Amino acid sequence: MHLQFGCADVQNKYGKGNMSTTQEQQAKIRIENLKLWYGQAEALHGITLDIPTNSVTAFIGPSGCGKSTLLRALNRMNDRIRGCRIEGSVLLDGKNIYDADVDVVQLRTHVGMVFQKPNPFPKTIYENVAYAPRIHALASDGAKMDQLVEESLRKASLWTEVKDKLNQPGTALSGGQQQRLCIARTIAIRPQVILMDEPCSALDPIATTKIESLIEELKEEYTIAIVTHSMQQAARVSQKTAFFYLGDLIEYGDTGAIFTNPKEKRTDDYITGRFG
Ligand SMILES: Nc1ncnc2c1ncn2[C@@H]1O[C@H](COP(=O)(O)OP(=O)(O)O)[C@@H](O)[C@H]1O
Ligand SMILES: [Mg+2]
Repeated sequence: MHLQFGCADVQNKYGKGNMSTTQEQQAKIRIENLKLWYGQAEALHGITLDIPTNSVTAFIGPSGCGKSTLLRALNRMNDRIRGCRIEGSVLLDGKNIYDADVDVVQLRTHVGMVFQKPNPFPKTIYENVAYAPRIHALASDGAKMDQLVEESLRKASLWTEVKDKLNQPGTALSGGQQQRLCIARTIAIRPQVILMDEPCSALDPIATTKIESLIEELKEEYTIAIVTHSMQQAARVSQKTAFFYLGDLIEYGDTGAIFTNPKEKRTDDYITGRFG
């Protein structure tokens, strides 16, 4: 199976100085007229949306509007749900991830996911991070694996807190630490995109702040899409915001503009707390 997800090197070819804005903000993921059904029920009604490289895109909207469904469609998590059917396409660096020749396991190494509730494996902290790289043979020996584990924990801002207890169970950490461990686990397989579904909803405010500043750092290296029910969080962490309502994308744009000057009345009603 061949899955070419390397970025076309527009930057080197043209030199950054000459690039137009569109080229600079090349979409990492391009969602085109995506429709999704659970059995007979259509949950997404034709979503078209570009997720730019190396930035944070927030999905907001009232409960049940399809945020998680859309997020899961970006690494084919919906494949696991019986009766789920999709139409349209999701292009990752120009390649449709729903093409017949795409290896889903491979895809998920490129597009990692962090869930609402921290869900470390019932294994040591070290093993939580080393598990997937071992399966994908990303480290040739023990020393390389140690290095990869340390690097992933550092990137997840967890290393200093756990470096002396790598052999303790991941589940013994605090909720916020567990979520950073899950982020380290995701980073360890060197993804290009990280999907986060309400990653702070089970965390206290201090742990939430830590995850938010981590997201800020991670966007330098990864493309991030985050579902959040907190508009304050969307405003704090994202550059782009997409507002959904009943399976439709109502409005999408720069986060600042969405929150200060929305074009659609429904967006305005939602962000000003008139419904949701
Ligand atoms: N596994 C599923 N099977 C059937 N329907 C589902 C499933 N997951 C979500 N739905 C339905 O799809 C719609 C969108 O849900 P979801 O994506 O979870 O919304 P959100 O994340 O915005 O709260 C809802 O009507 C929900 O009931
Ligand atoms: Mg959800």
